[in-house]
Amino acid sequence: MSDRKSPVTLKIILIGSSGVGKSSFMNRYVNHRFTNMYRATVGTDFLSKTINIDGEAVTLQMWDTAGTERFQSLGTPLYRGAHCCMLVFDVTSAASFSALEEWRKEFLIQGEPQDPQHFPFIVLGNKTDLSHREVSVSKAQHWCGQVGADYFEGSAKEDLDVEEPFLKAARGGLQQYKKHTLENTGHFQITCKQPRETRNTCEC
Ligand code: GTP
Ligand code: MG
Repeated sequence: MSDRKSPVTLKIILIGSSGVGKSSFMNRYVNHRFTNMYRATVGTDFLSKTINIDGEAVTLQMWDTAGTERFQSLGTPLYRGAHCCMLVFDVTSAASFSALEEWRKEFLIQGEPQDPQHFPFIVLGNKTDLSHREVSVSKAQHWCGQVGADYFEGSAKEDLDVEEPFLKAARGGLQQYKKHTLENTGHFQITCKQPRETRNTCEC
């Protein structure tokens, strides 16, 4: 019996500076809720959602990280085994956009994806409902072109274009899963390079 009948679980990591709206975007997507109140994420949190991709059930396990812990090792293999990484910035904050380069580098160092050149990155510009924009679409797209990422933007607050980036993440993550996780194991398992004794975030 094949265990492919149960949905494939894809690990999607959301990273980016504090206050850009990572938690809000994820909450809007999964729970269809939004609040103007800011409560900084402490440590990490994850939400799951099962969707259908071309007739295949896929569970997205979305890891929401704390922006304030930027560039610091969390001491856990958090980024390892990720199938897609979403780099989130605020379109009204040039600083949050500039920081993406560091976030990306840090992900590649800590996450150690098997094929970094082809690892799926999604860049997400949030807060398009606000008028005082500091990062243009063309500027964001230009950088994405340089690093080989897909660009999306939207608003968690106004529920604008929230689904598309996650769909793209699911597609990219599924490809990653089929190429690396399945090829390596022959069956469903989240790839984890950490020795078994010290794993604490993977189910494998
Ligand atoms: P950390 O957990 O500290 O890393 O922050 P975060 O990236 O998770 O940001 P969070 O989702 O907590 O949002 C920060 C603030 O921005 C909150 O006050 C949200 O209400 C607000 N916010 C989030 N998304 C939007 C949006 O699309 N538009 C507007 N106008 N505000 C937003
Ligand atoms: Mg948060």
